[in-house]
Amino acid sequence: MRLTDHEKAMLDGSEGPAVAAAMDLLVRYGEALDAGGLCDIRNVAGTMTQPSPAKAKLVAEGGWDKAFAVINLDSDADLDIPDMRIPTCQLQQGFGSDADGVAPYPRQFVELQEDAESFYGRKGVNILATCTPYQVGNLPVRGEHVAWMESSAVIYANSVLGARTNCEGTASTGAASLTGKIPCWGNHLPENRYGTHLIDVEVPVRDFLDWGMLGYFAGDLVQEERPVITGDIGIPELADLKHFGAAAASSGGVELYHIPGITPEAATPGDAFGARPVSEAVGYGPRERRRMYETLNSQGNKSDVDFILLGCPHASIDQVCRAAKALEGRQLNSGTQLWMMVPRALKAIADRSGYTEIIESAGGKLLADSCPAMSRSAPEGTTVFATDSAKQAHYLPAILGIEAWFGTLEDCVNAAITGRWTGELR
Ligand code: F3S
Repeated sequence: MRLTDHEKAMLDGSEGPAVAAAMDLLVRYGEALDAGGLCDIRNVAGTMTQPSPAKAKLVAEGGWDKAFAVINLDSDADLDIPDMRIPTCQLQQGFGSDADGVAPYPRQFVELQEDAESFYGRKGVNILATCTPYQVGNLPVRGEHVAWMESSAVIYANSVLGARTNCEGTASTGAASLTGKIPCWGNHLPENRYGTHLIDVEVPVRDFLDWGMLGYFAGDLVQEERPVITGDIGIPELADLKHFGAAAASSGGVELYHIPGITPEAATPGDAFGARPVSEAVGYGPRERRRMYETLNSQGNKSDVDFILLGCPHASIDQVCRAAKALEGRQLNSGTQLWMMVPRALKAIADRSGYTEIIESAGGKLLADSCPAMSRSAPEGTTVFATDSAKQAHYLPAILGIEAWFGTLEDCVNAAITGRWTGELR
C-alpha cells in the first residue's frame, strides 16, 4: 500500500508508540483489503465507552490505556494513549445511572461506563452516546471522508449527507481517531458509489411506517449493493430516511442508496447509475408492501403485549413530540411498559419542552444512551414487545428471545394503553 512520507513517519514512531500502533493496524487492514492507500479523514464515530466483561478485566489489569490498546488498536503493547487527533464521538453505549430502576442493567457496567466517559472525554472523545450522531451536531459535509461504525449511521452518512465511509469496526475507528486516516477503498471511491438496482415505488410511501417497510424491501432485494428509489414517494423527512436506512441495513447490508432529487449525489436516475445503464426497475406495489408487513410481524403470536419500544434509531425531537401528543392525558396498561430511546442532547430539549413530563405522566420512559438491543436489557418478564422500528422488529426477537409486533406509532401507543396488539395494515 502506498504511504505518504508523513504516514511512513507515523508508522516508524515519529509521533509516539500509540500512533505507530494505530498506523500498523491501518496498514495491515488496508493491505488485507488491497487498498491503494489511506484517506485523510476529519471525523470518527466509534465506540470506546461501551462496557463489557472483557473491558472490565483489561481496565482492572492496566487501566483505560490498556483497554484502548487491546480493544481499539489491537495491540498488546503498554501504550500511553494520546488525545484524539480529529473530532471523534462515542456512538450508543450502555445505559447510564438515570436508567437505574427502569432497565435491568448491571450496576457495575453503569459505573465502568461513567469511568470510561471521564477518561475518554478528557482525551477529546465527544460523548454523544447515540446511534444518530448526525442528529446532535456531528455532521460531516458532502464528499468528506469519515470513519463511522453503526450500520444505521453509516447508511445515513453516505446517502443522506453524501459523506464517505465504509462500515468500520471498533479497532479501525480507534486507529483512525489517533491518525486521521482510514484505508481508501469501498465507499471512499467514487466508482463504488453508483446505484446497482432501480426500485420503482407504485404505492404511496408517505409516512414513517411505509418508509421502514420500503427500506426493508430494498435491503432484502439488493443485499450489500446500492438501491436507487424512484416513484410515488413524496418528500421524506429526517425520521423517514433514518428509518428507511436502518431497515435496509437490517434486511440486507446496504451502506449507500440514492433517491434522485432528494439525496445529494443524484439529481436523476441517470446520475445515480453513472456510466452504467439504468437497471430494469423492480416494482414495489401493494403486494410487496403487504409482504413486508407480514414478514415484520411474523414473530408475533400472542396479542398481550408487555413492552413497547420506540426510538430505533434514536428518536428525533419531532418523533418525541408526536409520541408525547399521542400519550397526553392517557395511562399505560398496568402490565405494559413503554420506553422511547432518544439522544441525550435531545432529551434535554424534550425535558425543556415538557414532552418528557407528558410521556412519564402516562407511565412511559424517555431513555438515553442505549437501547434494549445494545444493552440486551428489556423490562423484566417481557415475552412480547411491539415497536414502530423495522430494525428492532428484525433483531430483538433473536437477541432477547421474545415475540415482536411491528406497526405505527398509534398502534404502539394503543397497545401500551390497552395491553393488547390490534395493529393492522391500512
Ligand atoms: Fe440505535 Fe439500538 Fe436501534 S443502537 S439503531 S436504537 S438497535
